[in-house]
Amino acid sequence: MKTANIRNFAIIAHIDHGKSTLADRIMEQTETVSERELSAQLLDSMEVEQAHGVTVKSRSVRNFYHGDDGQEYEYNLIDTPGHVDFSYEVSKSLAATDGAILLVDATQGVQAQTIANLRLAVKHKLTIIPVINKIDSASADIAATEAQLRALRPEFKDTEILKISAKTGQNVHQVLEAIYQRIPAPAEGNDQALKALVFDSQYDPYQGIIAEIRLIAGQLQAGQKLLLMNENSTFTAQTVGIYRPNMQAVKTLKTGEVGYLVTGLKDINAIQVGETITDFEHPTQEALPNFQPPQSMVYAGLYPKEGTSYEALKQAISKLALNDAAFHYTPEQSEALDAGFRCGFLGIFHLQIIQERLHDEYNVEVLTTAPNATYHVYLKEPDARKEYLTITNPAKFPDFAKIDYVTESYVKAVITTPNDYLGAVMKLCEQHFGEMVDLDNQQELVTLTYKLPVSEIAYNFFNSLKSITHGYATLDTEFLDFELVDVVKIQIQINYAPVDALDILVPRQNAAQIAHKLVEKLKYTVPRRLYPMPVQAIVENKAIARVDVPPLRKNAAVNGEKRSISKKQQLLRRQSLNKRQAARSDIKLPQSVFDAVLNLD
Ligand code: GTP
Repeated sequence: MKTANIRNFAIIAHIDHGKSTLADRIMEQTETVSERELSAQLLDSMEVEQAHGVTVKSRSVRNFYHGDDGQEYEYNLIDTPGHVDFSYEVSKSLAATDGAILLVDATQGVQAQTIANLRLAVKHKLTIIPVINKIDSASADIAATEAQLRALRPEFKDTEILKISAKTGQNVHQVLEAIYQRIPAPAEGNDQALKALVFDSQYDPYQGIIAEIRLIAGQLQAGQKLLLMNENSTFTAQTVGIYRPNMQAVKTLKTGEVGYLVTGLKDINAIQVGETITDFEHPTQEALPNFQPPQSMVYAGLYPKEGTSYEALKQAISKLALNDAAFHYTPEQSEALDAGFRCGFLGIFHLQIIQERLHDEYNVEVLTTAPNATYHVYLKEPDARKEYLTITNPAKFPDFAKIDYVTESYVKAVITTPNDYLGAVMKLCEQHFGEMVDLDNQQELVTLTYKLPVSEIAYNFFNSLKSITHGYATLDTEFLDFELVDVVKIQIQINYAPVDALDILVPRQNAAQIAHKLVEKLKYTVPRRLYPMPVQAIVENKAIARVDVPPLRKNAAVNGEKRSISKKQQLLRRQSLNKRQAARSDIKLPQSVFDAVLNLD
């Protein structure tokens, strides 16, 4: 296919506006798949995606379209996820496209995610095709939706806005025509040397790293000796191919095309997303600008649960990280939980998805500690050093007596919400120590910009936002800087033994309240023993909250029933005498103990 007839595009939309239905219709009308094969939404194939009904990973699929102009076109459709924790995936995908179909549901009109995604597409300088969907529905208000779209972006002309039903297929043909008419073909530079952008990758135990690539220039085929420009290492291309939507090998990938490259590389760290691949014999002059891998917003410890070995977890985590450039990990050691990993995530939902993928794809069960933000700790003299300490694990927080001051990561949070919920959203942000930076009204929607500490949005913020706006608000976050905060560490002791994996960092002003709630929760989640066990929350060497985990007294009584009263008393006394010894023994903590920290509200 000549480059002039290639089009690379994405479909962007608010949740449930019909993105997957339109993708299915496009694959069907271009005969990429038959109607029968379309029973399930093909692109959301991961188990987690089907379970949550959301797209997590981007995917590409090649379609061939016979235009009304008599020419044949190659349409590379790249599917993108919608949740804020995956906006990095959207960015990566958009970097591999030249245009986007902006889909708006006529029964709902422009929604928060419509605006957020449009913003991203404009940032990537993409050609945008505005499309109103669900015109078959009785509750469709096409005129109002059209007016909203034009208000949002005055550049959209009346005739440009297409009106379709992705469900019935009505006018989908117009979309297929608009793609080649409006979206530009991939640019062709003068440099004909191979230059390919890696925008995603996955790991196959037999074939090694399989990179998803877009060819910016040149050609690529199996057997070619290649150079990774950033890594400065070489390898030989095993196979090249395309997704239709299943993998299909092809002889050559050419300028502008999107496809996959089987590298045979078994070292999972060999290729990073954003890498430039070129020909070893005839390299291109300049590498592509690298993607900035997103900074982790929250950290949590991941430890193997019973039945899972450390080695199995290590293998699974490193393979997952390859497939998800936003996920980071380093080994760590916990006194309570032994060997595990400190992992970085874009948010809590991202953490949850990783946990589920470890289970679904690698059969690995993990115990997750409560997530936390990143802190910079500056020490007093004589411990002061040029650099601050970066703390991503509360257990490593230095002794309070040595600390001069602490800063915490802050984000710029852009929230788009229907006007009706403005008051509630502002209240929520204020409760979380937010500082308003900007407020922008667009008809029924308003966009608020806040500065917020990461620790405040790491837990339930997104869920609370969704719940107070009935799911209509969107949240987009971007790392801002580190700001001075007054935090203290709450240490938990169970039966007088500190449990480092339960350490948390909290604002000093909330410490007492949080400590009380936490020990109360632990009272019912820490596994009981035959004797009562104190659970204490220690802040700066002082116990500020305490409860006793009730003993399994029933059992003791049952055992004692047939004995004399004095025997029963003896038994209880012995248990209490043993308690200090027991403090050193292994209290196996279930996941619910760590979840207690998460669910304090
Ligand atoms: P996410 O993957 O969750 O972002 O959703 P999506 O944007 O991919 O939406 P999806 O294609 O799953 O469609 C959401 C719902 O709208 C489904 O129940 C579809 O059947 C329905 N739907 C999609 N297009 C149309 C349409 O043109 N008309 C009508 N009446 N319903 C439609």
